[in-house]
Amino acid sequence: MKVLITGADGQLGCSLRCEFDKDPELETVYTDVSTLDVTDPVAVDRFMTDGRFDLVVNCAAYTAVDQAESDELKAAALNTNAVGHLARAAARTRTRVIHISTDYVFSGQGYRPYTEKDEPYPTSIYGRTKLEGEALLTSFCPDSVIIRTAWLYSEFGSNFVKTMLRQAKEKKDVKVVSDQIGTPTYAGDLAKAIHLIAKSSAWKPGIYHFSNEGAASWYDFAKAIFELAGKSTEVMPVSTAEYPTRAKRPSYSVLSKNKIKKTYSLTIPYWRDSLRDCVKALDTDA
Ligand SMILES: NC(=O)c1ccc[n+]([C@@H]2O[C@H](COP(=O)([O-])OP(=O)(O)OC[C@H]3O[C@@H](n4cnc5c(N)ncnc54)[C@H](OP(=O)(O)O)[C@@H]3O)[C@@H](O)[C@H]2O)c1
Repeated sequence: MKVLITGADGQLGCSLRCEFDKDPELETVYTDVSTLDVTDPVAVDRFMTDGRFDLVVNCAAYTAVDQAESDELKAAALNTNAVGHLARAAARTRTRVIHISTDYVFSGQGYRPYTEKDEPYPTSIYGRTKLEGEALLTSFCPDSVIIRTAWLYSEFGSNFVKTMLRQAKEKKDVKVVSDQIGTPTYAGDLAKAIHLIAKSSAWKPGIYHFSNEGAASWYDFAKAIFELAGKSTEVMPVSTAEYPTRAKRPSYSVLSKNKIKKTYSLTIPYWRDSLRDCVKALDTDA
């Protein structure tokens, strides 16, 4: 099977590289903006026509959630229009697509895990541009799989875990919001799930939710990072109102994983167990 991964230098892309490179049955081509700018429709069409891929996994995205509030054109170019370019090229070349989306498509006013049937209502430019990308993909290439995930971290790139571990070296205490609830998700676990779906004989198009199991606030997440890394840094809870950000984030965005677990017979690790593995790997790297 020949696979194209876009945005492959990002944290999910790097995690996919670790997972896919172990599989001798896959021939994987990794691209990022310097090798395939997904906002260029002509380049996307040519690359996909020449490459004759069986599957494209789109990890390219504009992920600076706050910056997107003042950079809507760029966020839309990457999160919406580029998904349309990939979708059109995929439909023409009969290439399957796995696309990654976000829990930020939801308003966060709920009190139970969001299912794929729940109505999205994004409260940020990032969330809206990602939702519009989902819609373009579904309309041009209905045979696609869209995976909404949340709170990604990994050994790669910049993310909350690495920021907290850096803060532990510089500060005695940190303030972290305690009234936004979601699920930290290890990109390595998502990469494993994508690998399984890519190779599954039971390809079933549609939207799926994937995060690690369980739920936590950013405060809980920070406490766990310091505990697992053996750091004495104090975590002080603050409210979203005390720590305003440019983009409005959902206060509750736990995702129900029932559909993906049932369809693809997946077992998903609890968030703290995966965090332990990642913190250990980062500690070894340090
Ligand atoms: N991170 C999270 O917490 C989170 C949560 C929920 C969902 N997601 C979704 O999960 C997916 C993967 O996220 P991630 O954390 O791996 O993101 P990431 O680390 O920001 O990776 C995105 C990659 O896309 C690249 N890129 C930017 N412009 C491009 C272009 N024009 N053409 C091709 N590639 C381009 C980026 O390069 P530069 O770094 O040079 O810009 C980067 O390497 C995204 O769809 C994201 O929306 C992420």
